[in-house]
Amino acid sequence: MDKMKWFEDARYGLFIHWGLYAIPAGNWRGQEIHGGTEWIMKNAQIPFEEYSALADSFNPVRFDADEWMRMAKEEFGVRYVVFTAKHHDGFAMYDSACSDYNIMHTPYGKDVVRQLAAACEKYGLVFCVYYSQLQDWAEKNGFGNTWDFGPEAEKDFRKYLDEKVKPQLRELLTQYGKIGLVWFDTPYEMKKEHCAELVDFVRALQPDCLINGRIGYNLGDYRQTSDNSIPILAYPDPWEACMTLNHTWGYRAEDNHWKSPKHVVRMLAEIVGKGGNLLLNAGPDASGIIPSESVEIFKTVGAWLKENGESIYGASAAPDFPYKLEWGCFTYKPQTKTLYMHVVEWPYKNHGICVVGLMTKVKRARLLKTGEEIPFVQTYETARDEYRLRPVLPSEAPDELDTVIAFDLEDDPIIQDIVDRR
Ligand code: GLC
Repeated sequence: MDKMKWFEDARYGLFIHWGLYAIPAGNWRGQEIHGGTEWIMKNAQIPFEEYSALADSFNPVRFDADEWMRMAKEEFGVRYVVFTAKHHDGFAMYDSACSDYNIMHTPYGKDVVRQLAAACEKYGLVFCVYYSQLQDWAEKNGFGNTWDFGPEAEKDFRKYLDEKVKPQLRELLTQYGKIGLVWFDTPYEMKKEHCAELVDFVRALQPDCLINGRIGYNLGDYRQTSDNSIPILAYPDPWEACMTLNHTWGYRAEDNHWKSPKHVVRMLAEIVGKGGNLLLNAGPDASGIIPSESVEIFKTVGAWLKENGESIYGASAAPDFPYKLEWGCFTYKPQTKTLYMHVVEWPYKNHGICVVGLMTKVKRARLLKTGEEIPFVQTYETARDEYRLRPVLPSEAPDELDTVIAFDLEDDPIIQDIVDRR
């Protein structure tokens, strides 16, 4: 079976950035340290001895893996979860025999990865792990910590690969059940042979485990966009956009610049309409709580998905229309020849929306969430050589976030090429 199928059907995943960095939460010795809070050790050049002492106080007594994953599946509507098993700071959120610098050597003392993997299994979510394969600010041969361990040129990265990266990947891929994907990060100037070696290593342990694009050199199973980036045009192959909900991956108490549910729904529809997946982030605090603001946003988006998920899960890239769609976007399902019109900006009263360029005949139009028929007019205007589709819309938006109209087409959509019709 196509190992990409679960990924392309899922379309929507939950990224969780959680580790020691949730304790300082972007502040060090009374000073706000800018940038992602998961980068605080690097950005503040904190000596390893100081930063690693955070492990002595890490005790997220409010962490509840079962509640996180229940919410994720039943209320957020995500289909897979990517959890930071080992981030750039080198601290493992699981019981690793490779290094005592892990969650078992904290007052909390329990394996977070194991609890999340079990909860994902229970709720039918695909469990995936984030692993920083190059940067490791805890290791003298890992990349990135020059303030404790000196210049990169003097490090033995081969030794780091053999003594930490591969043993830890082996632990994650043999002791925690089926892993949906390994989410590698910041390959920077890694040698291609090292990246290829890690691909082979993962494939040998779990052949169906996907590898994201940040393994490097396009060796992954899908393309990874840059952080918080949506491509202008649809990529032809599977791809994923990773997005923060505020401005940081790890927890930062002061960062309340949350994307609205409407922004998230529009982003999700636009990404799926270009053939991609959205991996949306939550950064839990040091007590193990996902910030309530982000929970509410995820739940609001999840409620919308309960009524409109047909237009997202298992949907594919819609064709490119000739004009920018100011009101929203399209997603498409070739399996049912259904074109989904996502109207995010509802037109003023009876001004309606005219979709230009669809040459394929529409058989029927319905309001997706209720099935109610939507009248429409589909014409070809000879004089101006335009194919025009005008759904007859109610004066008020049935769904303030994104009203989805499903057009059942006679065949796969053919779009008029207005450029070369001189
Ligand atoms: C960047 C950041 C890293 C974060 C990742 C998520 O690579 O370095 O901290 O985990 O983006 O996409």
